[in-house]
Amino acid sequence: MNTLPSVETAPNNGDVHGGTTLVIRGGRPLAGRVEVKGAKNLATKAMVASLLGGSASVLRDVPDISDVRVVRSLLEAHGVHVDDVEEGVLRLDPSDAVSAEMDEIDAHAGSSRIPILFCGPLLHLLGHAFIPDLGGCRIGDRPIDFHLDALRAFGAVVEKLPSGIRLSAPQGLHGANISLPYPSVGATEQVLLTAVRAKGTTELRGAAIEPEIMDLIGVLQKMGAIISYEPNRVIFIEGVDELAGYDHRCIFDRNEAASWACAALATDGDIFVGGAKQQEMLTFLNVFRKVGGTFDIAEDGIRFRRGAELKPVMVETDVHPGFMTDWQQPLIVALTQAAGTSIVHETVYENRLGFTEALNQMGADIVIHPQGLDSPDRRVARRALEQAAVINGPTPLHGADVVVPDLRGGYSYVIAALAAKGESHVSNVGIIRRGYEKLFEKLAALGADFDVVE
Ligand code: EPU
Repeated sequence: MNTLPSVETAPNNGDVHGGTTLVIRGGRPLAGRVEVKGAKNLATKAMVASLLGGSASVLRDVPDISDVRVVRSLLEAHGVHVDDVEEGVLRLDPSDAVSAEMDEIDAHAGSSRIPILFCGPLLHLLGHAFIPDLGGCRIGDRPIDFHLDALRAFGAVVEKLPSGIRLSAPQGLHGANISLPYPSVGATEQVLLTAVRAKGTTELRGAAIEPEIMDLIGVLQKMGAIISYEPNRVIFIEGVDELAGYDHRCIFDRNEAASWACAALATDGDIFVGGAKQQEMLTFLNVFRKVGGTFDIAEDGIRFRRGAELKPVMVETDVHPGFMTDWQQPLIVALTQAAGTSIVHETVYENRLGFTEALNQMGADIVIHPQGLDSPDRRVARRALEQAAVINGPTPLHGADVVVPDLRGGYSYVIAALAAKGESHVSNVGIIRRGYEKLFEKLAALGADFDVVE
């Protein structure tokens, strides 16, 4: 029986470290329909882009997640009027934007990584910016050197302080030639958000080309920006003097869609993910099929099911169009049920396989190899931060008490607990709601058996 809590609507919704525990009684398939809304990794960036407009913007399909709330409150601290037009639709009016009070900015320290993207827009708007210490998931060092080097190339002066970073642009910002050492999503967005209003042309080499970045380029073009891209990760941005507001519907959240697909695999379920689209998930769908899943692509979403028996796979995470790093955690839960040895090689983050320890407590057989594996046909240059998880299956999972470490790892604990026999206590689930809208309602709609303990 589900006791559906006040949690989804409680005032402390934005608390990313919320101490809520899910008590899950597993062992039954998840079946039914869930809807995915706009992508966390686009909506938050489009909200920041609204700062660049000379008029108000309207953003549609905005998910109700705590990362959105953090960005909203940071925008409001800078004088942006953010109104709920209706559920999932925000109007963002930057016409009264001002410098925020230091204590208001500090209140956001450690809560998200998005504030780093305020740099360019604030420098254009105010001539200076202060960015608090960043948060986000603890999945490695997650440095910001590419961001700061790019901002310096635009002419910004960067001063590192104990509590954050102070930036100024005494001469204004000018176009630059920037070559990223690695196709970082955030650094590419930083360059886009800064270059669109810099004087002159910017050439960005080594850019990330994730669908969410293409959608951000769409948002900026609607605002009046001139951005073109060429093969081989090259983007040109011709700076313009002013931009207007936009009206945009966010691209769907392919990370959430992939998460529910893996939940169907892991629990032997049958889940229709409304709003999921094929193109942005091609790479995921190939792996899903190889593991033994079946999918049906419809106009309004994708139905994911498990085939007869799950098969082992070798997967290497990569930048787009590769297999996303955010997909590996829920996939690994499903791979514990595959007959044979699977290998998941993480090449994007240096520390994103630690979550597997708790899966082993639940009966999985996963060994982490710090060196990773050799792969000559990698799309981007080898970096010294890889790890490989070797998953031997099938292993029946049993209930355990586990603590959510980060967003995607946390979601994978929830589906592991749902697939496991017996009762699990998954604590610290507030973190999962940084990126999964209406998580508890969706689990209930799929027939999960759980209680929420505050
Ligand atoms: N990196 C640097 N220096 C930098 C920036 C990045 O060394 O200045 C390294 C990172 O440490 C990491 C790699 O480059 O090893 C890739 O980082 P990237 O900048 O691409 O990631 P991000 O922009 O911080 C976004 C998503 C992540 C997603 C990655 C990769 C947002 C808010 N976050 O992070 O999403 O995993 O791209 O696709 O868009 C999630 O949704 O759970 C999540 C972590």
